[in-house]
Amino acid sequence: MKVTLATPLTDPVLPVAAGPLSASVIDVLAERPHRRHLTRINAPVIDSDPWGLDLHLALYVCYELHYRGFHGVDPAWEWNPGLLHLRAQLEIAFLDAVTEEIGSLDDQASAAEAMDEISVESGDGEGPSYYIRDKATWDQVQEYFVHRSLYHLKEADPHAFAIPRLRGQAKASFVAVEFDEYGGGRGENLHQQLFADLMAAADLDNSYLGYIDSVPAEALSAVNLMSMFGLHRAFRGAAVGHFASTEITSPPGSARTSSPTTSVRTTCSCTASASTCSR
Ligand SMILES: [Fe+2]
Repeated sequence: MKVTLATPLTDPVLPVAAGPLSASVIDVLAERPHRRHLTRINAPVIDSDPWGLDLHLALYVCYELHYRGFHGVDPAWEWNPGLLHLRAQLEIAFLDAVTEEIGSLDDQASAAEAMDEISVESGDGEGPSYYIRDKATWDQVQEYFVHRSLYHLKEADPHAFAIPRLRGQAKASFVAVEFDEYGGGRGENLHQQLFADLMAAADLDNSYLGYIDSVPAEALSAVNLMSMFGLHRAFRGAAVGHFASTEITSPPGSARTSSPTTSVRTTCSCTASASTCSR
């Protein structure tokens, strides 16, 4: 089987800023961090849209320092207090918006009840996977892959930060699922690798962060939410809940998504000009 490397041998490059917030973060990363004193990084967080591209690109770049970092960026920025202070302001703005969007929660519901509820799919669902199954052109399918690539090329990594924060059966169960996400010990079966192979088969760039300059805030915010849950011990319950709900609800959507893809790929003979092929 032909396997495409999920990541190039070079580090990702910093994205292009999308506004004053992301410019504040990206510009400062080109410098050497101060190691002996705190230098605050000023940015207009209070004036920013908490769902906007500028804020989410800034937050994404901050979080990426905990994953693979960027070419030419000093790894010491990962724990720079000035940057962490700015990141905390971005997180508060985002978390406030998420909390408002979710509304009140039923604090009497058990985890088992919550999982039972999401284990049943309605027959008349809606969302991207239904659209892709029923209507999407090949261009739209490719666009969907591009948007999803930010997460799937680092699939399972944000949740893995939660592992040291669990114990007993919860840790064992969590790691058992993660073991499958990481290919069960086989590099070619890493889910990150499988998505990279899918991107290559769809004539797309499968390099890590290859499309960070192309995706909207929605694609970045979904990953930022996972990173925020994973990196904060205070949110370990949210990290586990997010992981469980993703694992429970994603298989039917993946099946819907792969159905038209297969037919379109067949129509396109897998190598034809994808942009001119639609279903
Ligand atoms: Fe997966």
